[in-house]
Amino acid sequence: MAKKNDYIEKIEKRLDELIPIKYPQKIYDSMRYSVLAGGKRLRPMMCLEACKMFNGNVENALDVACAIEMLHTQSLIHDDLPCMDNDDYRRGKLTNHKKFDEATAVLAGDALLSFAPNIILHARNLSENTKLSVLDEFFKAAGVDGIISGQIVDLDSENKKINRETLDYLHTYKTAALFKFALKAGAIIAGAEKSDLNKMEELGQNFGMAFQICDDILDEISTFEEMGKTLGKDKNANKQTYVTIYGLEYSKNEVSCLLNKCCDIIGEKSEILNSIINEIRDKINC
Ligand code: IPE
Ligand code: IPE
Ligand code: MG
Ligand code: MG
Ligand code: MG
Repeated sequence: MAKKNDYIEKIEKRLDELIPIKYPQKIYDSMRYSVLAGGKRLRPMMCLEACKMFNGNVENALDVACAIEMLHTQSLIHDDLPCMDNDDYRRGKLTNHKKFDEATAVLAGDALLSFAPNIILHARNLSENTKLSVLDEFFKAAGVDGIISGQIVDLDSENKKINRETLDYLHTYKTAALFKFALKAGAIIAGAEKSDLNKMEELGQNFGMAFQICDDILDEISTFEEMGKTLGKDKNANKQTYVTIYGLEYSKNEVSCLLNKCCDIIGEKSEILNSIINEIRDKINC
């Protein structure tokens, strides 16, 4: 467990170093406000741990892990905007547009989305080929082949009946894309083989699906204190989730099956990933 905290400490410190405080202060302040608000840092941790699983040097993956957290934070800032999920709280604090204003939040998201790949481009101790492979995965996850398509289908599905295929599509793209990227990036940095990268892709798919369904379950059963965001919103916004379509018990069972698949892939190779999985199980009792 000490190791998980070590990762978080490294990530927090490097994120703070990477985003400067300078003119024009407002944009850097708003980027730092959301990035340094203290999320769970799950995706960067997964990147570091994937690197370690394939015997890579974790230090060499740190900047890429931070870039992944910046991309994730960008997706949250935009997800919270009034034109999207319209949320007032994130990570226990006011959302970016509530703290600053909408234009600043849009620009902070844009800034992070372009800042992050530049961090990868200049990451320490990585070969040009490694950086290109990681950037290739970055653009796939961040763009229209990833989060953006998931988010548009998520928004477009509000107040509609959707089929299972569409439901799984939106989970895959809005959430699993980033988990796949995080795990694959760590493995790429470690110099893992293609067959191992495929395994990380499969792990990210199952983990991302499980994580989003779990978030949707927690939206119904958790508390603001626990989650740091306003809950019960999916039902109110008529969002299409496993919970709103199939109910809590079915969703918990689905999470459990997906996490079993994750455990099969991880085996004994990562104590940290197994402990993250157990924490998720505990949270929703599955
Ligand atoms: C929130 O992700 C967005 C979803 C995919 C559900 P996290 O629950 O990992 O958020 P932070 O990073 O801990 O704030
Ligand atoms: C995941 O879905 C959001 C992103 C991909 C950014 P949600 O909209 O359910 O996430 P929360 O509940 O706002 O964190
Ligand atoms: Mg959303
Ligand atoms: Mg949301
Ligand atoms: Mg949610």
